[in-house]
Amino acid sequence: MKKLFAISGSLRERSFNTALLRAAASLVPDGIEVELFAGLAELPHFNPDLDVEPAPRPVVDLRARIAAADGVLVCSPEYAHGVPGSLKNALDWIVSSGEFTDKPTLLINASPSFMGASMAQANLVEILRVMGAKLPDAAVVSIASVSRKVSADGSLDAETATALRAALSAFVTAI
Ligand SMILES: Cc1cc2nc3c(=O)[nH]c(=O)nc-3n(C[C@H](O)[C@H](O)[C@H](O)COP(=O)(O)O)c2cc1C
Repeated sequence: MKKLFAISGSLRERSFNTALLRAAASLVPDGIEVELFAGLAELPHFNPDLDVEPAPRPVVDLRARIAAADGVLVCSPEYAHGVPGSLKNALDWIVSSGEFTDKPTLLINASPSFMGASMAQANLVEILRVMGAKLPDAAVVSIASVSRKVSADGSLDAETATALRAALSAFVTAI
């Protein structure tokens, strides 16, 4: 059984990005388990002075979950053309501890805009590359106009489900 750890960049209750990750759990090939990270809001603001042993408990928990995963899914909206602060905060906690080094990572983004969340996504690629993550070819899935394709309970239209299933299958084959 391989394990994928899924991090949504949105704290919103009815988040499309979180809904996509919930849907991903049912679209992965057999033998793959998806665990959705529930602790984003519990992480303290990153402060190098706190990044010492022992690290804050929510940070230890996040690091352990990434370390234990065979791959990571990051699904994030774009805020003001950038990565949401809460997600960037989580990633900053992983810089010194290095759990993303060589970690296969699939990036998904959802935006209600027809243009998608391309700027945040490009920035996430850069951030994760510098942290050493492995981003296999085609490891970026952009879902624009998401409000017409995904409902907050996690049901997807057929085209989006097909695209996500294909990306997950290629990702799982690559890892
Ligand atoms: C503060 C803020 C800034 C936003 N900036 C952008 C943006 O730059 N580009 C974009 O495509 N959408 C932007 N949006 C719209 C989000 O993509 C939209 O709210 C999306 O549904 C958020 O993802 P979620 O449904 O997973 O919470 C912004 C939304 C908020 C609240």
